[in-house]
Amino acid sequence: MFSPTLPSMPSLSPSLQARLSTPLKIGTVEVKSRVLQSPLSGVTDLVFRRLVRRYAPDSMMYTEMVNATGLHYVKQLPKLMEIDPHERPISIQLFDCRPDFLAEAAQRAVEEGADTVDINMGCPVNKITKNGGGSSLLRQPEIAEEIVRSVVQAVKVPVTVKTRIGWSDQEINAVEFAQRMQDAGAQMLTLHGRTRAQGYNGSARWEWIARVKAALTIPVIANGDIFSVDAAVRCLEMTGADGVMCSRGTLGYPFLVGEVDHFLKTGELRQSPTPIARLECARDHLQMLWAYKGDRGIRQARKHMTWYAKGFMGAADLRGKLALVETLDQGVELLDRAIAQLAQSGWQVEDASEPQLVEV
Ligand SMILES: Cc1cc2nc3c(=O)[nH]c(=O)nc-3n(C[C@H](O)[C@H](O)[C@H](O)COP(=O)(O)O)c2cc1C
Repeated sequence: MFSPTLPSMPSLSPSLQARLSTPLKIGTVEVKSRVLQSPLSGVTDLVFRRLVRRYAPDSMMYTEMVNATGLHYVKQLPKLMEIDPHERPISIQLFDCRPDFLAEAAQRAVEEGADTVDINMGCPVNKITKNGGGSSLLRQPEIAEEIVRSVVQAVKVPVTVKTRIGWSDQEINAVEFAQRMQDAGAQMLTLHGRTRAQGYNGSARWEWIARVKAALTIPVIANGDIFSVDAAVRCLEMTGADGVMCSRGTLGYPFLVGEVDHFLKTGELRQSPTPIARLECARDHLQMLWAYKGDRGIRQARKHMTWYAKGFMGAADLRGKLALVETLDQGVELLDRAIAQLAQSGWQVEDASEPQLVEV
């Protein structure tokens, strides 16, 4: 007899459900969901956020990070900062090390309609840290504090910070750093449970998120390794955090934030999309990117489409073709053909990570 092995079933304790049943309060802003879509450079543009919001209408979304110095010198609004007037709640994320430029950029963000302004103090990329931005601020807490004070003074909307637990294993300063951000006026802190030295490797250390949550009075959002509903629930239980932020788990899977939100609100698992539904979403994504960005959108869509094409026989071959797509028509044709084949043959799993048939 055969039966599918499924990912472990999350369970929602009454105490967790009660703790998360009220809106998330970020200063004066109330959010009806405890699940947030993280800022992802090269990913969370207006189109991606629109797709995530289809399944998670109440969730907070973030733009990709915007360079405040760039904004100071180039007056034209970058596409990165464009937001849809209907997308609420939305945070514009900024990075830099100059308090004055960040204050100015925050004012621009508010003019564009940002409900909150988030300061990136976690980016590990050399190009950013060598200029004093991102996670290098963990080593310059006085500057980080000055930044928050300056931005808080410049805008009326809540100012939030997203950071990591420290620079390296030898320099973990999450609790002191978070306290400083709160004292400087930050209204929420999102903590990615890795050090800068870890990059995106190893596991996120949720125990540090628990320590920071215990030390602060402002909301703390847990981030790192939230790839499933089950992980989100375990993380919320373990850390006591006020919410979770999904990141890499949403690549090629804009359904995740909505799945977690639905479970936290109802205790019920939303049906996961079939490979056909995922490819249909990939096709929408491609068409929307083309409409928004033209040919540049097609080049950007390649990586997204390869992320969607997973979990069925022939997926690897399809990914290879999608990675080379040059035009909208080519992409749509490939996806249409794959969808038709899947519909005709019934889909069979391919990857080991997908549900497998096991003998019991
Ligand atoms: C492709 C990519 C782009 C990212 N861009 C940003 C960004 O613009 N701003 C930011 O604060 N974090 C950014 N991050 C970090 C994520 O928001 C998140 O903190 C990190 O991926 C940890 O969560 P995860 O383990 O669930 O992926 C990025 C991560 C990736 C993989």
